[in-house]
Amino acid sequence: MDQPPLPLELIQKFKTASSVVALTGAGISAESGVPTFRDAQTGLWSRYQAEELATPQAFRQNPGLVWEWYSWRRERISQAEPNPAHFALVEMEKRLPDFILITQNVDGLHQRAGSGFRFPLIELHGNIQRSRCSVEDKIFHHWQQQDDGLPPRCPDCGEFLRPDVVWFGEMLPRQALDSAQFAAAHCEIFLSIGTSALVEPAASLPFIALRQKAVVVEINPEHTPLTSSANFHLPYASGFILPYLVRFIWET
Ligand code: OAD
Repeated sequence: MDQPPLPLELIQKFKTASSVVALTGAGISAESGVPTFRDAQTGLWSRYQAEELATPQAFRQNPGLVWEWYSWRRERISQAEPNPAHFALVEMEKRLPDFILITQNVDGLHQRAGSGFRFPLIELHGNIQRSRCSVEDKIFHHWQQQDDGLPPRCPDCGEFLRPDVVWFGEMLPRQALDSAQFAAAHCEIFLSIGTSALVEPAASLPFIALRQKAVVVEINPEHTPLTSSANFHLPYASGFILPYLVRFIWET
């Protein structure tokens, strides 16, 4: 594909910007082979919807099934690699005076690409590579897989471990949400990358930025509820356009 037309006004804005925020969704990991939420589930899990499994009720009713689904997702993600979009955001973190990455993704690919080495990486929906006690909330990075098909048990209290992710109907981690809302309210450029902009409270973040006159840029091949309000819509795959954007800002 030829070089995409990047708005010069946007390039100039980046060259003088002191604070940039990027919000990412499942679309940024699509080119790493991780299915988005709106993609149909594949294989043996195709008969379930994410909404049926990623809930406290599903875990209470069938902890083994929910734990098995997350083990399958962890296995799939372990075979994925960060893609050029993830690495382009690491470059932004290196070069910008202030850069906050907020992700809705739980796949940990931003961390594996190197994001978060200089500025906070805000995980709004948790991280599938961590588990926590389903009662005491203590975090575990490693656990002993049972062979009874049930989730591992907390070594302290004996209750089941659960994935350290936000399930449908659950509140987001308070500190993560407060930090994300503060960042959106104080940035000069807000990038919305690879998200359908449907799920609250993340979907409100670009509008917090718009209200304080930040330049909002949406990177998504599709239109979303944000598209008509954004200052710029770059209708390209993030793995294609973000490396170009970084090159144009710092190499021209
Ligand atoms: P979705 O699956 O809702 O949306 C993914 C978006 O990425 C879509 O708008 C696609 O058009 C776009 N997309 C696909 N490939 C892309 C690419 N290569 N480059 C750029 N964009 C691309 O995923 P999210 O918006 O992340 O919440 O979903 C938000 C939340 O809904 C998730 O975090 C999850 C789910 O409920 C929780 O788990 C709490």
